[in-house]
Amino acid sequence: MATALEDELGDILAKARDGKFWSQRDLAEAVGLPLEKVKAIESCQSVPDDEVVRKLAGALDLHAPSLVDIARGAWAPNPPVYGDADFDLFRVDAFMGVYPVKCYLVRCKKTGSTAVVDTGASPELVVKKAAGLGWSVSKILLTHSHPDHAGGLQALDRAFDCPAWIDRAEPRPSGSRDLRLVGDGDVVELGRLKIHCLSTPGHTPGGVSYRINNTVLSGDVIFAGSMGRANSSWMDLFRSVAGKLLALPEDAILCPGHGPATTVGEEKRHNPFFCGKV
Ligand SMILES: [Fe+2]
Repeated sequence: MATALEDELGDILAKARDGKFWSQRDLAEAVGLPLEKVKAIESCQSVPDDEVVRKLAGALDLHAPSLVDIARGAWAPNPPVYGDADFDLFRVDAFMGVYPVKCYLVRCKKTGSTAVVDTGASPELVVKKAAGLGWSVSKILLTHSHPDHAGGLQALDRAFDCPAWIDRAEPRPSGSRDLRLVGDGDVVELGRLKIHCLSTPGHTPGGVSYRINNTVLSGDVIFAGSMGRANSSWMDLFRSVAGKLLALPEDAILCPGHGPATTVGEEKRHNPFFCGKV
């Protein structure tokens, strides 16, 4: 089994409930469970039997077999291989307090040009990893402005003395002396690489995913077996995943900001929010 998923059954139920504007009481009544039981399931203190999981899935428009698999710990995506003939990709496993967060170093194989995607809230770690690899960072790409993804921007700006990019619809993070804005369809060049910007709002108003060949660095839009928290718009987030990320080829690799990497095919077959809908 690969790395543990970012979201457990309870997290998925809470996010699905959010999409229907339901309270926990609404869900309890819809499936005929005591409110306290729903609270215990959502807080991951209790895992119900498969029949109850299927009922919950039905009430919340989730794909029941996928949800049962995740509830039982019976599914995780096969770990994809990072990088390809054109670029190297290194994942930095960082922490914001005790909360794990991932950021990525991308290096053009032909020119050595390197970018960091998100700060991981641990700029010292990013600087150390880049130095350890002998990679010289010349660009900072931010998927969104939450502190665990952009919180180390000032330190990276000072360390690498380079511009940073973020979507024009996103709240501006502080710390960059040369903050540049992108929109859907824009391309940021990194050596010979073309980094394609996919506007993926919903977790935040200006979330952006960065596609390099067949690999997408997607921040908090999708997690293996789940989706991000819809802080700005649940429907925007659903459409971002269904219409942008899962519209890519089946073998496209998705590298989220939390939890394991996955592929479009894995998510189409196993993500309870999207299986059977895309
Ligand atoms: Fe976030």
